[in-house]
Amino acid sequence: MKPTLTFLWLLITTLVYHVLRSIFLTTFYWPLIINTLFISTLLTISLINYWLVPGGFAWRNYKQSTKLIGPMGWPILGTLPQMGSSAHTKLASLATSFKAKRLMALSLGATPVVISSHPETAREILFGSSFSDRPIKDSAGLLMFERAIGFAPSGTYWRKLRRIAAFNMFSPRRILGLESLRQRVADEMMLKVFKDMEEKGVVEVRGILQEGSLSNILESVFGSISNYNCLSLGGSEELGNMVKEGYELIAKFNLEDYFDFKFLDFYGVKRKCHKLAAKVTSVVGQIVEERKRSKELVIGDNDFLSTLLSLPKEERLGDSDMVAILWEMIFRGTDTVAILLEWTMARMVLHQDIQMKARQEIDICVGQNSHVRDSDIPNLPYLQAIVKEVLRLHPPGPLLSWARLAVHDVHVDKTLVPAGTTAMVNMWAISHDSSIWEDPLTFNPERFLKEDVSVMGSDLRLAPFGAGRRVCPGRALGLATVHLWLAQLLHNFVWLPAQVPVDLSESLKLSLEMKNPLKCSVVLRKSMTM
Ligand code: HEM
Repeated sequence: MKPTLTFLWLLITTLVYHVLRSIFLTTFYWPLIINTLFISTLLTISLINYWLVPGGFAWRNYKQSTKLIGPMGWPILGTLPQMGSSAHTKLASLATSFKAKRLMALSLGATPVVISSHPETAREILFGSSFSDRPIKDSAGLLMFERAIGFAPSGTYWRKLRRIAAFNMFSPRRILGLESLRQRVADEMMLKVFKDMEEKGVVEVRGILQEGSLSNILESVFGSISNYNCLSLGGSEELGNMVKEGYELIAKFNLEDYFDFKFLDFYGVKRKCHKLAAKVTSVVGQIVEERKRSKELVIGDNDFLSTLLSLPKEERLGDSDMVAILWEMIFRGTDTVAILLEWTMARMVLHQDIQMKARQEIDICVGQNSHVRDSDIPNLPYLQAIVKEVLRLHPPGPLLSWARLAVHDVHVDKTLVPAGTTAMVNMWAISHDSSIWEDPLTFNPERFLKEDVSVMGSDLRLAPFGAGRRVCPGRALGLATVHLWLAQLLHNFVWLPAQVPVDLSESLKLSLEMKNPLKCSVVLRKSMTM
């Protein structure tokens, strides 16, 4: 409510008060009643005035200094009630209805938030040095991610981690060196698809992709599982369960993240995080110890842990920091790839013509009987266009997973964004915007054959891996895996709908998942040898 309106309200209430007072002054009880009414009206108005500011309650102290617009939301809670499993679509509709695609203010409890649903302001946020930190949720801190790349403040330590990971985990040489691992895991997945179809008459791809993705990342991080007593004795399954538990804990709504109630633990999330972090430290710590003891394995090995252990003294990480970054790699590298591939296979089942065209491209490029290799991928533009179109329609991180934090006062779109504001980019809204994309709801990979759009973070119309200094460092590895495995899945099988139709409903947890896991049937292609 504007100050002039408040003033008018006060004036009218005071007048009404005095008129009523003079009429009823003769009676004993009336002044008491009127005084009570007067005070409660004043209180209500001032409370309403406190809450009714554009963007809601958390923006109460900035209403004079910033011209931001946005929903007032609920008293105290702000827009929190809208932040469930379809937050990305609800925020997109709000931005449209408030005509605030460029920048919208909202309140998540007491936390002031701005959200961009436009490529230009998204660029300002993601590339701006004022936004190179992330607001940290309690759960992420307790699960050690503050000591890993994702949540470390953007200082010397974070730069060191990114540099180490860039050379030893994500460099083109390292990605290429891991091709034989990707091929082996792909072969194992093909066998599981075949067996599922033979034994159950239906293929549930989610479990197969998650298992494949986990063993792929575990081996690229730790090397061969059989080298470790603790991993080969059920330890890798335990790590998989820990990743799942960590996902659930981080995605869980936690009231304390949005208010200054750090000492409380309403939902027991902190207690569970402590327990899980202790388990991770013990399991991953044991792996590191085993590896240190068997020194001969370190030299010449290609996995991330061995490169970390052979870093020069001045670069070397302490044991607990090493555990944190190893855990982060497994955590980030498992589900993102599996989720993207499940969406892709759902689209392949739904669009048989597109699936056929992709398979033809693969057959022409590699022949019907030979194996697809990494080196074939640059010659499969249609396959790459399919992955881009899936990233556009079903970005695994529709709100770019993890937000950014304004470390000092900064202007975005010439509007003041105060220090301490959480900044988000609604990539889902941008990639579904009809003023940016022709026919945005249609699955049409051909659009990327007509126009080559990079998904790596330079074009903010489609930046599913984020952009700027905190862009996803695993994007090339993630894409190399998805391209190769998709090519193998299409080359080896024809994918058909099962009895249950494909359901494209979404559920936003830490990533944007298919609400109902994909079920389909497959036909083995004659050329394949199992
Ligand atoms: C399909 C696969 C993937 C998608 C869609 C994805 C998406 C993202 C997004 C949106 C961000 C936030 C970027 C930003 O704030 O601008 C991010 C950050 C990150 N991702 Fe990925 N990612 C994928 C695969 C991977 C893989 C395979 C790894 C590692 C093995 C990984 C490790 C990370 C890390 C460590 C960060 C934090 C970077 C920082 O804060 O400096 N990601 N990812």
